[in-house]
Amino acid sequence: MTDLSITPEFRPLGKSGLSVFPIAYGMWRFAGTSTKEAHAKIDAALGAGMTLFDTADIYGVDGEGAFGDAEKLFGDVLKETPSLREKMVIASKGGIVLGLPYDSSSDYLISACDVSLSRMGIEQIDLYQIHRPDILAHPQEVAGALTKLRDQGKIVHVGISNHTPAQVETLQAHLDFPIVTNQPEISCWALDPFFDGTLDQCMQHGVTPLAWSPLAGGRLALSEKEARKEEDGDCLVATQALLDSKAREAGVTREAVALAWLLAHPAGIIPIIGTQNLDRISAATDTFNVSFDRQSWYAILQASMGEQLP
Ligand SMILES: NC(=O)c1ccc[n+]([C@@H]2O[C@H](COP(=O)([O-])OP(=O)(O)OC[C@H]3O[C@@H](n4cnc5c(N)ncnc54)[C@H](OP(=O)(O)O)[C@@H]3O)[C@@H](O)[C@H]2O)c1
Repeated sequence: MTDLSITPEFRPLGKSGLSVFPIAYGMWRFAGTSTKEAHAKIDAALGAGMTLFDTADIYGVDGEGAFGDAEKLFGDVLKETPSLREKMVIASKGGIVLGLPYDSSSDYLISACDVSLSRMGIEQIDLYQIHRPDILAHPQEVAGALTKLRDQGKIVHVGISNHTPAQVETLQAHLDFPIVTNQPEISCWALDPFFDGTLDQCMQHGVTPLAWSPLAGGRLALSEKEARKEEDGDCLVATQALLDSKAREAGVTREAVALAWLLAHPAGIIPIIGTQNLDRISAATDTFNVSFDRQSWYAILQASMGEQLP
């Protein structure tokens, strides 16, 4: 049986011409620390080889922080060591507004992007993503705003997040340049993109899937006792048991196996890890010591689904 290959070789970011390390670093949980601690996390991610850094204007509002805090803290790190910028592909997002919940009108997106640039203290965002679809914004208007930002040199490439395949197709129809990434939640505990056409569409159009919460926001790391209390806890425990068995075989952590499971998919998924723990950031690359054959990959899928495929 052929092994599904998992290597640290850089992966293309859609049709952007850019390539990035196959694991990205995410900053949803990044705000709320000193610049020194934040700097150490960025250094650990870069030290592990990561080149894609994913943030959003809204990151910071969970917990005690405020809108913009994660971008601001990231900007503080970049200000301390400006040479870091050239080692990174910086991705951010806009379009979620507290209390609305979404605004992808042209005026809003253009002003949100300006504020993101100034918080991070950078001239250009390499990948600007529409965070969630705004049902009240015509895709032609969204495309117009993205085109304007691109023409002004404020953003280089465009991605979307949490959009259905039809929403992606419709937005793309109004753009003269390709959407290069699609960021849904994907993990061996969040399986929808395997079945709802999201990953098929990525492969159809050469769009790179960026997997948010690749460890299911930490649920894959829960103890058996904690996992049993989750909805469909028996399936979660069964999934973890298979991840653990593979982890023992490869001499790595359960988390490294969960990342490898995503990396083995043919769409070229790039998981965005969210740990704030320096050792775990560095250990993410243990994933390249894992290999899957079809049987062991499908066994994890079926354990998570709680049923056998026909
Ligand atoms: N587009 C969107 O709508 C959207 C939504 C959510 C997230 N995202 C992106 O995806 C990124 C990752 O999301 P995420 O943070 O949910 O990712 P994740 O990697 O699935 O989960 C990270 C969480 O798991 C915990 N964890 C990891 N390993 C652990 C272990 N061995 N034991 C205990 N806890 C462990 C981490 O805690 P420690 O910090 O203690 O390790 C952290 O709280 C975000 O930063 C963001 O860039 C995007």
